[in-house]
Amino acid sequence: MKIIEKNKHIVAYYEKLEELRGVRRLTVISLREPFKNLLDAIKPKGWQFIAEKTVDGASRIIHPDATLRDENSFPRGYWEAKDPKLDLSAQIDVKIERQYPLKNTIFENTQRAVLYQAGKVVAEFDITQPKELARLLTLFFDYEEVVIANFKTAVARFREDTPELASGLRGKLEEAHKSNSKFISAHAQFMEMCRTSLNPAITRLAVDEMLIQHLLTERLIRKVFDNPYFTQRNIIGKELQGVIDAFTSKTFNADEYLGKLEYIYRAVEDASKGLDYADKQAFLNTVYEQFFQGYAIKTADTHGIVYTPQPIVEYMCSAVEEALHTEFGLSLADETVHLIDPCTGTGNFMVHLLERIHKTTPDKLEEVYLNRLYANEVMLLPYYVASLNIEHKFYELWGEYHPFEGLCFVDTLDIAQAQQLSLFSEQNAQRVQRQKDAPITVIIGNPPYNIGQLSENDNNKNRAYPVIDGRIKATYAKESQSGNKNKLYDAYVKFFRWASDRLNGRDGIVCYVTNNSFVDAIAFDGMRKQLLEDFTTIYHVDLHGNVRQNPKLSGTTHNVFGIQVGVGITIAIRSTRHEASRLFYHRVPEFWRKEEKLGFLQTALNNPFQSIPFQVLQPNTKNEWIISDTDDEYASFIPLGTKATKRANNGNGNGIYAIFKTFSNGIQTNRDDVMYDFTRRELIPRVEEFIENYNQEVDRYKRTGKNATGRDLDNFVKYDKIKWSSRLKETLQRLVYAEFAEEKVRYSLYRPFTKKYLYFDTILTHRRGLFPQIFPNQQTEVENRVICVPLKGNTKPFHVLMTNIIPDLHLTGDSQCFPFYVYDEDGTNRRENITDWALKQFQTHYNDSSITKWEIFYYTYAVLHHPTYREKFAGVLKRELPRIPKVPSFKAWAKIGQELSYVHLNYEQIDPHPLAMQWRTNKPVSQRVVKMRLEKKPDSADVLVNESLRLAGVPLRALDYQLGGRSALEWVIEQYRVKDDKDPNLYSEDEGYIVGLVGRVVAVSLETLRLIDALGTWEG
Ligand SMILES: C[S@@+](CC[C@H](N)C(=O)[O-])C[C@H]1O[C@@H](n2cnc3c(N)ncnc32)[C@H](O)[C@@H]1O
Repeated sequence: MKIIEKNKHIVAYYEKLEELRGVRRLTVISLREPFKNLLDAIKPKGWQFIAEKTVDGASRIIHPDATLRDENSFPRGYWEAKDPKLDLSAQIDVKIERQYPLKNTIFENTQRAVLYQAGKVVAEFDITQPKELARLLTLFFDYEEVVIANFKTAVARFREDTPELASGLRGKLEEAHKSNSKFISAHAQFMEMCRTSLNPAITRLAVDEMLIQHLLTERLIRKVFDNPYFTQRNIIGKELQGVIDAFTSKTFNADEYLGKLEYIYRAVEDASKGLDYADKQAFLNTVYEQFFQGYAIKTADTHGIVYTPQPIVEYMCSAVEEALHTEFGLSLADETVHLIDPCTGTGNFMVHLLERIHKTTPDKLEEVYLNRLYANEVMLLPYYVASLNIEHKFYELWGEYHPFEGLCFVDTLDIAQAQQLSLFSEQNAQRVQRQKDAPITVIIGNPPYNIGQLSENDNNKNRAYPVIDGRIKATYAKESQSGNKNKLYDAYVKFFRWASDRLNGRDGIVCYVTNNSFVDAIAFDGMRKQLLEDFTTIYHVDLHGNVRQNPKLSGTTHNVFGIQVGVGITIAIRSTRHEASRLFYHRVPEFWRKEEKLGFLQTALNNPFQSIPFQVLQPNTKNEWIISDTDDEYASFIPLGTKATKRANNGNGNGIYAIFKTFSNGIQTNRDDVMYDFTRRELIPRVEEFIENYNQEVDRYKRTGKNATGRDLDNFVKYDKIKWSSRLKETLQRLVYAEFAEEKVRYSLYRPFTKKYLYFDTILTHRRGLFPQIFPNQQTEVENRVICVPLKGNTKPFHVLMTNIIPDLHLTGDSQCFPFYVYDEDGTNRRENITDWALKQFQTHYNDSSITKWEIFYYTYAVLHHPTYREKFAGVLKRELPRIPKVPSFKAWAKIGQELSYVHLNYEQIDPHPLAMQWRTNKPVSQRVVKMRLEKKPDSADVLVNESLRLAGVPLRALDYQLGGRSALEWVIEQYRVKDDKDPNLYSEDEGYIVGLVGRVVAVSLETLRLIDALGTWEG
């Protein structure tokens, strides 16, 4: 990286120094601030600036003013500031005497700087000169030790080759399963052990994966960490070795096979020779995360295999230490403090706790290590890694090796189940028993968060835990008013439930970093209530970064884990000292980047509670923690729909207090690729083929399925031709055959202004909602209309769209639909869906008996478009279905609502906005799209249709008509592209249809915005 003298941070550095020179009685500490800020600001993306960090592995305690670590956590450079009044060279000598690292180190005193690299002086600089300073920084940031560079290349190679190596081993294991009887019997025994001790539903494949992990990493651990007896000594490694020995006895020679990898192993081993343990740890982290990402992504997902950034680990350990002290007058080493990390990964919480205990009460370290620290891990590789890390840290601090008896190879959530038959090995069982008996008072960690599989075809379900799931049902779910409680079975929620129960009524602390949807998502109302009953003080540091809630954020840039869901640190304390519960909350600024968030935690380290300006929250009766000022006003409006009104089956009589009697989710196929198409011609044969394949599976199930259910059924069905859903598996079990019928091919609004053909069927459409009663046949599309709004809990900005054909569930996010009419499924018995109760409410309020149900329908549509309504009630609109106020200009708004509905329903007929068609010469003239693109310019935008055609002159204002964070035009551009084997050009015989549609959607957008303006200012 070339840094120039005019770099804005260099300029700011000199300005700051100048400013300080005017200050009387200037201290060295304030004088070093500008250089500190300069290094921090200028460091490459992904690097960390860590102030006063103790140098790992040094024989004396040394903490340079800063350590800079790169994106892999390798230490890349150090900085030490000195007093300009003293002689710099003499001061450097003192530091060298104290064994300061000289790998890449700047010593400076605002006047002069000396740069050491690889133990030698590289150059001296007059840093009063910007040019010199820029040169120093360039040399400093560009430097990479040769060993580290080699090591990185070797590790990258290992990572790249892992999937292939693993798949080769998989093939070898497959052969051994067929022909190696010794292996077959050892494997069966081992698998039985896994079933009883890790997971009753563990598959043969999962056990094979374990063997692969062992085979691929065992040698690296032995050599890289110079730990020749690791797997022999490790109580789990020993067990695995037995199966491996059987495997390698006949058909397979591990050394020979792995010999092919010699070049990689060598490279990693050679490169690691010059590194100390701390550097090698970066390798372990790579192995931990990337190994799984590379070859077992499903495991990475279900188990949440991600490394916890160090500043989070340190902040949490520090918070626990402070809470122990302030709440209970205890230290980490107190004999009543028994700590556990229930999902330890690489063991970094334990490692850091050891460091803390060593710092404050060094003489107690061994006692705590041997008696009061516990950690669990359920995956083999991280279990090895944790074992290495924790045992090494103890050895480094104490000077003697002791196995870490607190570490168990076990599923934490299983420990709560009634019976454990065996726990892998006698020693592991003893360890688990010791842990079970321990009076745990502190639980700390980063539990996995995964709601379960996204697709039935992943065959990747989170396993069920009867005890914990039962406890969730009896507490968090029982206390919840929400309809959909599935999210309460997310792994992180199970870990909260487990931890609250694990304290077993004792005073104590639970400190987790997790997905923090429980803070404000509707499904978690019961959990929030229960948490405040289980604990007396809860602190929550909201690091958010929920990309779906705020599409302007990016997971990689803004989220501390680089993921899409919000993250937060919870410190929940139970102390009988307090009677009422207290809730403290702090949310870091919305647009902070990951590094800023981590930096913030770093600076709050020494006083985790006092240095954070927590806000005291008062939950309301609905168990909401985050309440906005407008909630009361909103509550006075009329609900669009409620579950109670929907349930009330006495026509329009009692129990009905909403505008619409009923409502339904948009339809969900669970296999859009098969069930939707731009053309009937492509859709029909594909559906017929799917039906044929499915019916064959029904036949096969009849013959050989042995009434399989649950996990057995998951393993029975074939995934190659059929995209399964839970509903399809149900119909298979009931031996229901599917039958093709032409009239089931219907029009659907798939995405805004994107119509597709849909095969709409009881078996093949995963969820049809009430649409068989809303649009039972094509005739009803002429008269019926539905208003679609986001589902409760939807994270996108609020939006609304009316349609007169079947809408998809993901129309613009997830959609909840309110029809004007409902029918019987044969299309007869049409009923109005606006309640008489609502009609009366409006007529009475406006004292106007001429108000009709259609007017209420259109009025509602208008209100839902008003920008002030959306902005003012943005928070509550995310959590609840809309409520409708009664504004003074009812009739005028109803009329505008009707006009809005006209343009939205008839978008294909409206006159297009005139756009200039610009053709490129020497290119074939065609209006066919391949992948359209929007090109924004300062005063207008163009749509690039294909290589020959550009539609110029889209007014930028048109892009302000947004549906769920994206403009109507962008929806169309995104949807009308040739994808896989789907060609939108086939939708219409007219080659110019899509080009015309672009102009029409621009016109619709402009007209919508004009009508919204016509609503005038908010009168609510
Ligand atoms: C988010 S990671 C922990 C990261 C760890 N703090 C670190 O930085 O290395 C979660 C870990 O929990 C483990 N895990 C998941 N479910 C578990 C369970 N039920 N019992 C024990 N460990 C589990 C996973 O294998 C994974 O290594």
